[in-house]
Amino acid sequence: MAGRLEGKVIIVAGAGGIGSGIANYLADEGATIVVGDINGDGAERVAQEIVSRGGTAVATALDGADEASAAEIVALAVSRFGGLDGIHINFASLDIARPNGKPTDVLGQDLDDYDAAMRVNARGYLVCTRAAIPALVRRGGGSIVYTATNSIYNGAADLMGYAMSKAPILPLMRHVATRHGAEGIRANAISPGLIVHADLEAVLSEEHLTGYANAAPVKRLGRPRHIAAVSALLMSDDGDFITGQVIAVDGGAFMRP
Ligand SMILES: NC(=O)c1ccc[n+]([C@@H]2O[C@H](COP(=O)([O-])OP(=O)(O)OC[C@H]3O[C@@H](n4cnc5c(N)ncnc54)[C@H](O)[C@@H]3O)[C@@H](O)[C@H]2O)c1
Repeated sequence: MAGRLEGKVIIVAGAGGIGSGIANYLADEGATIVVGDINGDGAERVAQEIVSRGGTAVATALDGADEASAAEIVALAVSRFGGLDGIHINFASLDIARPNGKPTDVLGQDLDDYDAAMRVNARGYLVCTRAAIPALVRRGGGSIVYTATNSIYNGAADLMGYAMSKAPILPLMRHVATRHGAEGIRANAISPGLIVHADLEAVLSEEHLTGYANAAPVKRLGRPRHIAAVSALLMSDDGDFITGQVIAVDGGAFMRP
């Protein structure tokens, strides 16, 4: 497999619907992939899929909010493949976004659910960033990509706690871009609109999906490959003048100033 990411070692942290799409796409561009997820079996399936198509990948169980676990996945990349060139931090605790009838507004949000989401979606992004930076610096620089969400911007009528848990990604990303830019590290966030994959198709009604598609100027639903394609650009040398940015990948559904 030859491509823009040939010779690069990249961690994909969070291997669910979007993450498996990212890992496969980056591998198809030639990257060596280290994939981690709290669901270790899920991560293993993604690695096997890549290997079965001729790519190079290993998997490990990862709790992205745990410092020892984040250090382990970085150590795995370095010991197995000689260094680290990029990390896409993509995992999320999504129970807070699918609250099964519990209130989701500012007065009703369950605080235990909120704390659980903050641990993974906010602290976890900081923990993985801190684990990766020294290895990226040793390599002469690299790329950190974060998966944010449009819910941060749009008032999040039924996703208040989820939006709060993901909003800290943006100041983290801008700080890393500023503080470590001179060492060759770039940091950017992708802000997806609704991105449909098998797990979501199983829980969202046809009416809901059609509504989302029609709300976007392109009149189509997003798929994991749309996020993966932007990740590949940001990981590649083609993206080496892009840093500190939030890139919406949503078919134009939400146009920020
Ligand atoms: N699908 C969408 O429409 C959409 C829209 C906007 C943003 N996002 C963001 O995209 C990312 C991926 O979402 P998805 O739709 O693929 O969801 P998903 O549930 O399929 O994937 C999330 C993955 O994170 C893993 N995870 C949870 N806690 C973890 C932890 N502590 N450590 C490591 N892994 C952990 C889960 O096991 C799961 O595999 C998330 O950050 C989400 O907030 C998704």
